[in-house]
Amino acid sequence: MRCPKCLLCLSALLTLLGLKVYIEWTSEPRLGKAYPGPRSTPPGPTPASPEPTLPANLSARLGQTDPLPSAYWNQQQWRLGTLPGGDSTEVGGCRAWGAAAAAEIPDFASYPEDLRHFLLSAACRSFPRWLPRGGGGQVASCEDPDVPYLLLAVKSEPGRFAERQAVRETWGRPAPGVRLLFLLGSPAGEGRPDLGSLVAWESRRYSDLLLWDFLDVPFNQTLKDLLLLAWLGRHCPSVSFILQAQDDAFVHIPALLDHLRALPPSTARGLYLGEVFTQAKPLRKPGGPFYVPGSFFEGGYPAYASGGGYIIAGRLAPWLLQAAARVAPFPFDDVYTGLCFRALGLAPRTHKAFLTAWPADHTTDPCAFRDLLLVRPLSPQDSIRLWKQLRDPQLRC
Ligand SMILES: *[C@@H]1O[C@H](CO)[C@@H](O)[C@H](O)[C@H]1NC(C)=O
Ligand SMILES: *[C@@H]1O[C@H](CO)[C@@H](O)[C@H](O)[C@H]1NC(C)=O
Repeated sequence: MRCPKCLLCLSALLTLLGLKVYIEWTSEPRLGKAYPGPRSTPPGPTPASPEPTLPANLSARLGQTDPLPSAYWNQQQWRLGTLPGGDSTEVGGCRAWGAAAAAEIPDFASYPEDLRHFLLSAACRSFPRWLPRGGGGQVASCEDPDVPYLLLAVKSEPGRFAERQAVRETWGRPAPGVRLLFLLGSPAGEGRPDLGSLVAWESRRYSDLLLWDFLDVPFNQTLKDLLLLAWLGRHCPSVSFILQAQDDAFVHIPALLDHLRALPPSTARGLYLGEVFTQAKPLRKPGGPFYVPGSFFEGGYPAYASGGGYIIAGRLAPWLLQAAARVAPFPFDDVYTGLCFRALGLAPRTHKAFLTAWPADHTTDPCAFRDLLLVRPLSPQDSIRLWKQLRDPQLRC
């Protein structure tokens, strides 16, 4: 050997390389196991495609193959071409879809009231914006140098003023590349207090409320997703990512931004990220939460990210809208989003730092939160306390 130093260098280099491979190999599996994505599949000629596609017939994608259950949703999805358009004021159209559903489901009359209301209007998805009387409260479009990297789209309800204010004062504060919007239904409705003038004031003061004129009830939450997607297409088509969260969530924005910026482009392009449920099934206890009658839906839910908070790639917005026009309505917004992603051939990615059912005894412990990206539910008071503690330079964990 003419160069003993070279040999030494070479063996040191090889050791380092081995170490790097070992570290990468040992630090990947948990993320990859449930949803082998491009990051965890071994390098090969055909990495999993992050590109959405929408086949002419969605039955196979949505698992509706022979023998088909007789439940309404399954039958409907099998037959469905495109849901009728139009708004609820038109005769026929979307209302006719609901009336046909009611007529076809043998035990419709025994369904819980909210599910009956949902089905009757489920195909009606076009609602006008609710704007304060006397003007003002306009939500600005994304303007060219200021196109957000991350849009925080927070589902709230008109009466939840304190929850919205806590978000504005904590994790939703103005930050470079980040924009905050709240999604709400109408502040008035039959049998409810009229919050119109209070919400109008708030809307003028903050210009961050996207309101639409539909009844803001749990089974109408999918309308917020769909109307937001349509709004984005017109007013913010180039946003990179959208966080869909509830107003009782708490999000570690700087850590989330770091995570998103570090994603390989192939992952980022088809992103649907959150706390993913893969084995969920409809609950069959009448009167219980999330009850789904057997005559309405049979089978398991698609893999979906918990609606407490998840991220999607902005470029998927028009794809999701197209998918939604062809996926039969389902009452739970997060399951419905899962169905639409499945229709597009995209799988959710799970992240262990999204905890959408965080135990209440942890909610005020800043050390427990330090390595997390999103938790809920937190009260407005707990959000503010946690925010202060996290910014305290004295914090030792
Ligand atoms: C999808 O394909 C199945 C047969 O594979 C067919 O029976 C069904 O009607 C098709 N659905 C639509 C919407 O074309
Ligand atoms: C959703 O809102 C529409 C429009 O206000 C209403 O007709 C429908 O009954 C609401 N859905 C439910 C489940 O209450």
